[in-house]
Amino acid sequence: MRTIVAMPGDGIGKVVLPEAIRLLDAAGFKAEYVHGDIGWEFWQKEGNALPQRTIDLLEEHKIGLFGAITSKPKDAAAEELAPELRDKGYVYFSPIVGLRQRFNLDICIRPCVSLKGNPLNFIRRSADGGFEEPMVNTAIFRQNTEGLYAGIEWTNPPENVHAALATHPKWKKFADVPKEEMAISTRIITKTAATRIIRAAFEYAKKFGYSNVTVCEKPNVLRETSGMMLSIAKQIKEEYPDIDLWDTNIDAQMMWLTKNPEDYGVVVAENMFGDIISDGFAGLIGGLGFACSANIGDEVAVFEPTHGSAPKYEKLDPSIVNPIAMFLSACMMLDHIGENEVSDKIKKAIAEVVEEGKARTYDMMKLRGGPKVFEQGACTTQELTDAVIAKLK
Ligand code: NAI
Ligand code: MG
Repeated sequence: MRTIVAMPGDGIGKVVLPEAIRLLDAAGFKAEYVHGDIGWEFWQKEGNALPQRTIDLLEEHKIGLFGAITSKPKDAAAEELAPELRDKGYVYFSPIVGLRQRFNLDICIRPCVSLKGNPLNFIRRSADGGFEEPMVNTAIFRQNTEGLYAGIEWTNPPENVHAALATHPKWKKFADVPKEEMAISTRIITKTAATRIIRAAFEYAKKFGYSNVTVCEKPNVLRETSGMMLSIAKQIKEEYPDIDLWDTNIDAQMMWLTKNPEDYGVVVAENMFGDIISDGFAGLIGGLGFACSANIGDEVAVFEPTHGSAPKYEKLDPSIVNPIAMFLSACMMLDHIGENEVSDKIKKAIAEVVEEGKARTYDMMKLRGGPKVFEQGACTTQELTDAVIAKLK
């Protein structure tokens, strides 16, 4: 039997992950789940939000299902550390970013697919003055480990870094700025990682029948990094004669989101641009309650909803949050390990529940979150799971 490392994390991660496991069981997916400690509690108690024992579990079992974690800025994190651990040099880092780096989970996939009847679907005005609801079916491929989020940055850069930058012809306008008044972030892209993410995007397009792959960058301005992404995409495209390669600029793409989102199949981008574009597409298909994701490396893969721990709602019992993003992330896991039949069965059941509209969490009813949502007709997280389980065939 397969073993899955279940890492609920913090807040609503502790709510939606067990619901996903309940659904997977009901759908007939046979697996054993081992619990992985991760999140704020372990930062506070141990000075490490990603304990080594959790890394060991993933190393052993390879597949992780993750809920969400709470992250806080450096100072707030230091204040919440157990008194006996303070001033011992512990520094907080986000455990999900840690996982991506530790296992080189460089390929992040975020599918954004409209479900029929979802009241949160994007609607635009049509030429005849009426309304139309474009059905979005896009998968965003985000390079997950490099680019602007790689963390190579300084305020008041060291002398040698400063000196190296000063060799650049465009440095002139900064030449008189004191180092201590300067903050620098770098955007590093390697050929290896760019090739991996772009090839993965084309492979996905081929596997799931998408007719186009769009490189969403800004090569006219970021000539080197975006330029490298685009030129590698052009090379790889040669191997996929049936798939069109489009390229768009990130800013224009954000505008086109509201114009013709249904045209885009697979979209591929660097870390930050992928982050932006995937939130943009997620907004068209229902937002955080529907946005699923996968972080895939050569050996290990971790599947998680895009949303965080939603601390506002973590104490509500029963819970009000939408578990669908977590369910769809679990389906991505199933697809990844070749359990496509179970995955399709679950996705169909979710689609039916959404279309039928009898069981809806507060977000689908556009209510303000809180304990009152139940009197207003919203269902609980658990009731939504029950509704999906009832539709499994
Ligand atoms: P968040 O995603 O936790 O919540 C923002 C808002 O979105 C919530 O208040 C709620 O209104 C809505 N929402 C989120 N998930 C929902 C769901 N399943 N159903 C219905 N509504 C939902 O983001 P926020 O508030 O910015 O961050 C809260 C904490 O989560 C922070 O500590 C942050 O660092 C962390 N975070 C963790 C992530 C992760 O674990 N991968 C990702 C994003 C944030
Ligand atoms: Mg984001």
